[in-house]
Amino acid sequence: EESRIATPIGTTLDRFIKNKQENFKYATGELSQLLRDIALASKVVNREVSKAGLVDIIGTLEAQNSGGEQQKKLDVLANIRFSRALKKGGEACALVSEENDSYEELNRDGKYIIAIDPLDGSSNIDVNVSVGTIFSIYRRKTEVGSAVQEIDVLQKGTEQVAAGYVLYGASTMLVYTTGHGVNGFTYEQSLGEYFLSNPDIRIPEDGTIYSINEGLSKEFFPPVTAYVDWCKEQSFNARYVGSLVADFHRNLLKGGIYIYPATTKKADGKLRLVYECNPLAFITEQAGGKATDGNKRIMEIEPVALHQRSPLFVGSLNLVEKAMDERLAQK
Ligand code: AHG
Ligand code: MN
Ligand code: MN
Ligand code: MN
Repeated sequence: EESRIATPIGTTLDRFIKNKQENFKYATGELSQLLRDIALASKVVNREVSKAGLVDIIGTLEAQNSGGEQQKKLDVLANIRFSRALKKGGEACALVSEENDSYEELNRDGKYIIAIDPLDGSSNIDVNVSVGTIFSIYRRKTEVGSAVQEIDVLQKGTEQVAAGYVLYGASTMLVYTTGHGVNGFTYEQSLGEYFLSNPDIRIPEDGTIYSINEGLSKEFFPPVTAYVDWCKEQSFNARYVGSLVADFHRNLLKGGIYIYPATTKKADGKLRLVYECNPLAFITEQAGGKATDGNKRIMEIEPVALHQRSPLFVGSLNLVEKAMDERLAQK
C-alpha cells in the first residue's frame, strides 16, 4: 500500500498529448500546442485562485460583462491570463469569451478558434468553493491569414475539435477530449505538472444524483417539475454546488443529471451555448452520456449569437433520455 501511495507519478499531460499526436496521421502539432497553452494558463489561474483570500482579488468590479453580470476581479484576471497565453502561442486566430462582448482577434495566421468561460462559478470564489474554466476549440472556416469572420466564431458544437475544463477544487484537474474519449489529469502543485489520473472516463449509464437549482422551482415549467418529482420518488441525492464545472465533474464520474432549464423568467435558461453547454456536451457524449436542451441535441443547435443561452440537460444516458420522455421543453 505504502509504495502505491509513494508513487504518484505516471504520464504527464505533455507526454500524453505528444503520444496521442503521434497516433494521428494528420496531426500537425498545432492543436497539441494549443492544449499546452491552455494548460499553462490554467496553472497561472490556479495559482491566483488558490491565494484568492490573501491578496486583493476577491470581490466585484464596476464593470459588467457580455451577459450583463457584474464582473468579479477574478473573472477579468482569468480572462487576461488565457487571452495572453493564446496570443503568445500563436495557434489561435480568435477568442470568444464570456467576459468580452465581441470576439477578440488574436493571430491571423492561427488556424483555431477558442471559446472560453475563463472563470466558471465566480460567485463561489469569495467563499472558497470550487470554480472552473471551460473551453472549446474549433478550426476556422475562413482562409488562414485573412480576417476572422462570423462563420468562424459561430459554429455548431458538432464542429468542435477539442473541448475541456479545469476544475480548481480540492485538487486541480484538467479534463479534455479531442473526440477520441475523455481523459482527466490532476495537477501536482509542487512539480507544476498535470498527471494522467483518470484515463478514458466513462459516465455511468445510470446515476442517483440530480443537480438543479430547486430554489427556482416556482419558475419551472410543469415537465421539469414532473422530472424533479420523479427524481425524488427514486430518492435520488440532490447535489448542487452552483459552479457548473464542479457539478458537471461530479456527475461525470459518479453518474447523474445536471439541469439548468428554461424558466418562466429565463426563456432560454442561464447557461451559454458556445462556451458552457457545447464543450460539456462534447465531453459528455465522448464519455457515453447525453446532452440536450430538452428538444434537441445541444451540439446540433445552430448558434446565432456569441453569448446566446440554452437550457441544458446533461449527464448519464438513461437519466437524460428519461428527461426527454417527459418532453421537458414543452411549456
Ligand atoms: P459564471 O460564473 O461563469 O457566470 O457561471 C455561473 C453559472 C454556472 O457556473 C452555475 O452552474 C450557474 O451559473 C448557477 O446559476 P444559479 O445561481 O442560477 O443556480
Ligand atoms: Mn459570469
Ligand atoms: Mn460559467
Ligand atoms: Mn464565467
